[in-house]
Amino acid sequence: MLARRLDHIESSPTLAITARVAELRARGVDVIGFGAGEPDFPTPAPIVEAAVAALREGFTRYTPSRGIPELREAISRKLERDNGLAYAPDEIVVSCGAKHAMFNALMALCSEGDEVVVPAPYWVSYPHMARLAGARPVIVPTSEDEDFKLTPAALEAALTPRTKAVIINSPANPTGAVYTRDELHALASLCVERKVWIISDEIYEKLLYEGEHHSVAALDPAFRDYTVTVNGVSKAYSMTGWRMGYSASPRTLADAISRVQDHSTSCIASFVQKACIAAFELDDSVVDAMRAEFDKRRRRMVELLDGLPGVSCRMPHGAFYTFACIRRLIGRKIAGREVKSSMDFARVALDEARVAVVPGSAFGAEGYIRLSYAVSLDAIERGLARLAELLRS
Ligand SMILES: Cc1ncc(COP(=O)(O)O)c(C=O)c1O
Repeated sequence: MLARRLDHIESSPTLAITARVAELRARGVDVIGFGAGEPDFPTPAPIVEAAVAALREGFTRYTPSRGIPELREAISRKLERDNGLAYAPDEIVVSCGAKHAMFNALMALCSEGDEVVVPAPYWVSYPHMARLAGARPVIVPTSEDEDFKLTPAALEAALTPRTKAVIINSPANPTGAVYTRDELHALASLCVERKVWIISDEIYEKLLYEGEHHSVAALDPAFRDYTVTVNGVSKAYSMTGWRMGYSASPRTLADAISRVQDHSTSCIASFVQKACIAAFELDDSVVDAMRAEFDKRRRRMVELLDGLPGVSCRMPHGAFYTFACIRRLIGRKIAGREVKSSMDFARVALDEARVAVVPGSAFGAEGYIRLSYAVSLDAIERGLARLAELLRS
């Protein structure tokens, strides 16, 4: 009955965990959820006010499919100011979240039989998006010793004449890894030499605790010709439910991305676009306050996780996730139950300790678990105390 393109498309394990937590909570079970992929802060008031004003003014109709010019101008200024990137407003397409921007870029770039290099651990949607676009994801494992970053040697070994694009995500979900300027330069040089596109997912750009964020397209004019820069407002401004993201790419590709969108979703909600202009006008103090709070939680979570028997956790440099190694727990019995995989561990943690974590297998990295610190310090303390008790049982 269903299209063949869905043969290898699974539902998102992270959304499944969020749903299971909601179900348990609805039954009155006190679950501490570390599955969250979104900031737990409210959207800043000026953004909300701008949306309300737009609604009151009757700004409620279709807009140009790729976004209103004022918003694309605001994004163009943002890219120049924050990232040293020069993209004209007509090289920018506003989509329904960074997720949709990525998807449209892959749809515009990939033909049947093309390959897309996806370093693992990866954000759960990348391989599926590549498949939906007709391409084959080529998963390239990275190692914790190399801070979970793709090396030029590993990339080179994965490239074939069919490689169309490589996805780079810095700061990264789920590992918190952040690429340095030199690392990006080396990867991008190789891509340009081999005429491979770089899809640079920079959605966690503002949630960086150490080091500096570099936009790959800004490092060399040659890189810009082969890069799609993807970003949005979800994580930086606590706007996950508003659904706005964007891609910036050379004009021919931007036009193609826009055509994909013209015939699928058209524009995003009109009044959300006005709210996003207000977001780009905010000074960084709002994001700085959020980042400072995340930083406290990050340190505490790593300290507590690293202290658990059989668990080790390195310090993530960006985003709001810890990615802890549980390899030493695999093959053991926990609370009388055999744990053969990160998925088994996640099940035991939820059933026996009422703590929700995401198994590393969801990100293509068995032997790890992801815990989000987009939750209160109190939840971190209590959740980790429950896991400590579980591991003593
Ligand atoms: C790496 C990465 N890229 C993109 C997104 C999607 O963001 P948006 O809400 O803008 O679609 C997420 C959300 O979790 C993410 O983790």
